[in-house]
Amino acid sequence: MCGIFGYVGPRKDAVEMAVEGLKSLEYRGYDSWGVAWKESQFLNVHKETGKISGIDGKTLAGECSLVIGHTRWATHGGVTVANAHPHLNADRTIAVVHNGIIENYQELRDELKAKGHVFLSQTDSEIIPHLIDEELKTTGDFAHAVRRTCLRFQGRYAIVAVHTKSESIVAARTGSPLIIGKEKGGGYFIASDTPAFLKHTRTVQYLDDGEMAVTDGRSILISDIATGEERLKREIEIRWTADEAQKGDFAHFMIKEIMDQKESVARAVNQSDEEILTLADAIRNAKGTFLSGCGTAGMACRAGEYFLSIVAHKHVNFAPASEFKLFHGFLQPESLLIVVSQSGETADVLEAMQVAKSAGAKVLSIVNVQGSSIDRASDYTLRINAGPERAVASTKALTGQLAVLLLIAYALDGGVAQGKKVLLETAAQINDMLNPRYVVFLKEIAERIKDSKDLYIIGKGWNYPMAMESAIKIQEVSNIHAEGFAAGELKHGPIGLVEEGTPCIVLAGSDEVLPDIISNAVQLKARGGFIIGVSPVNNEAFDVWIKVPDAGTAQPIVNIIPVQVLAYELALARGKDPDMPRNLAKSVTVK
Ligand code: G6P
Repeated sequence: MCGIFGYVGPRKDAVEMAVEGLKSLEYRGYDSWGVAWKESQFLNVHKETGKISGIDGKTLAGECSLVIGHTRWATHGGVTVANAHPHLNADRTIAVVHNGIIENYQELRDELKAKGHVFLSQTDSEIIPHLIDEELKTTGDFAHAVRRTCLRFQGRYAIVAVHTKSESIVAARTGSPLIIGKEKGGGYFIASDTPAFLKHTRTVQYLDDGEMAVTDGRSILISDIATGEERLKREIEIRWTADEAQKGDFAHFMIKEIMDQKESVARAVNQSDEEILTLADAIRNAKGTFLSGCGTAGMACRAGEYFLSIVAHKHVNFAPASEFKLFHGFLQPESLLIVVSQSGETADVLEAMQVAKSAGAKVLSIVNVQGSSIDRASDYTLRINAGPERAVASTKALTGQLAVLLLIAYALDGGVAQGKKVLLETAAQINDMLNPRYVVFLKEIAERIKDSKDLYIIGKGWNYPMAMESAIKIQEVSNIHAEGFAAGELKHGPIGLVEEGTPCIVLAGSDEVLPDIISNAVQLKARGGFIIGVSPVNNEAFDVWIKVPDAGTAQPIVNIIPVQVLAYELALARGKDPDMPRNLAKSVTVK
């Protein structure tokens, strides 16, 4: 989704920093970009469609100390230069970047049109500089004009605005993230995510919903948008470093992050026993526990249902976060909602939390990003410690989420130590498995199936959500039509889709359901399916066997990893950039 960058301070290379900062936000997904900077008393603007990767900020502008920038993921209006941000008012004295959706924009646009304003884009965002312009007619103060403008919005937004007559940047948020970075020698950054400025500072302040910030680079004033009251905010040191957020010698973030799993699963297990036991108690005592998340994190939740049921004999309900509000009737003040999210910013998840909180229920979150909106809005949080995940296709965050959910299940059954032992053994097995020969083997399989029109994946028990997750991974980066099914459901419809040579991935463990899933594999093979078995043991039903460790209760964690590599290799074999999947964004901050 859209990325925002802003800087004001003593540095003279503000535009160059903005371009580099926006490049660090590329992983969020975007289709156009732009920057506006102040030089003398003028605002200069540069906007383009397409990627920012090849741009050198130095060639855009000379010395300057105040800049705002944006990467846009189209919502209102197509991918055009006119629709790219920053947007300006008529006399080009105000520039604004915006993330989110102004729901009442049509009404505000009509009102502005009636006053003679002319719009150059189809976006909801363009109304913002025009509204600020109108407010400036009655108040001379830029920050005040921005405040009054924000009060007119319905919907979720994060904005950053500048004005030729002001030395300050003004930022405001409701529903979409904005983080302030403070540099030691002076100067402030404002961004939608910390990688944008991690190279320069790790000291941050988080803006909360309904808050705005005004900074001239020397000091910052944070206040409540509605009342104007000052808000004092803690400065927090974030743990991630700029290096962790780079891809180093790897060709893509996706493969780097897949390989990170050699260590990240062990880091996810590194939780305090006391905290895990407290959370297990919260689940034990709750009257109704719900699990919710989106996309890959939703698949972690579905596997969590099996972990809690099989390991801890505990019944929980899953609903995708976008559906969760429809189940509000089952929530009570004693209920517990467990949300899972890598970014901690997904709009649907935030909405689900709101629904639970309105019913008086408590929210436990399992997140990766420290200080994210979900992290801060939860009653309890467990961090998966995966380190920055930049590729749109989530890999190491998923295995971290699975590890934490499995650990919670063990804790509920009184065995935190046992859970940690199982998971640390699994982490060591992953380290052995992800060797160069293994990757070459998966690449060969990808070459063999790369021209397939369809691909099906089956799993049973906790491997069923991993079958659906495998489909997500393959769809996302290779754009092959892929679907994951519960193995036993094949005969009720999906088997009709299998033709001679259709690749079918079978996810198995060495557990009690192995005979069932092998029987389903045989049924697929009998219809011409090309069977790729992912399993600790070989079977004559498999045309190709991808060997995985026997990981017991942690089997879904090891089974999904070769499929992640296969999806990556399929993307490359089909000439796709796995880090820039078509139409997708890393952090989905709109509903
Ligand atoms: C997007 C990403 C997925 C991710 C999902 C949920 O669709 O592309 O990789 O699983 O959002 O994101 P979250 O940050 O809440 O885990």
